[in-house]
Amino acid sequence: MIVGTYILDSLLDTERCGEALGAGLRPGDIVALNGHLGAGKTTFARSLARGFGITRRVTSPTFITVKSYVGERGTFIHCDLYRVDGPQYLRDQGVLDEVEAGAVMVIEWAEKANLFDRADPLVLSFESTSKDGERLVRCEASGRWSWVTPVFERLQRL
Ligand SMILES: Nc1ncnc2c1ncn2[C@@H]1O[C@H](COP(=O)(O)OP(=O)(O)OP(=O)(O)O)[C@@H](O)[C@H]1O
Ligand SMILES: [Mg+2]
Repeated sequence: MIVGTYILDSLLDTERCGEALGAGLRPGDIVALNGHLGAGKTTFARSLARGFGITRRVTSPTFITVKSYVGERGTFIHCDLYRVDGPQYLRDQGVLDEVEAGAVMVIEWAEKANLFDRADPLVLSFESTSKDGERLVRCEASGRWSWVTPVFERLQRL
């Protein structure tokens, strides 16, 4: 198990962090994002996509719920469960099957689905602080994700 909380000082920090993690994603990976409205989930998802090599701009999926992007390193699925019944939606859309077939996926409002039944996600929870532009991100995952710890720690030292 890996657990840690890191400070993201600014929007740029969040973007750097997303890009660095996106570069390390492998087929079948799921990144689960939690946090209040405006916490930074979409911002982070967009940066993950960029780091993964998606060159098209990733839009906020809030109104469409799921969108796929294809890049050189594979399919990147961006999903937002804010408006839907999470578990049922994921079942109906078959997105977990796509992930099992090798896509990577980032999910906003992931706490609305019981991902752990079928997957081994990197869970990131975002939170604002009293400082303008600052966010805390709590990271929780199985040992399979241990490569992300040095990525967070390196950024923390910048
Ligand atoms: N350090 C930071 N990290 C991320 N976003 C930041 C940061 N500082 C300021 N922001 C701003 O906070 C907002 C985050 O919005 P974003 O859409 O990413 O949140 P969200 O968690 O996806 O919200 P929602 O639940 O409504 O989808 C953006 O306007 C962004 O510019
Ligand atoms: Mg969002």
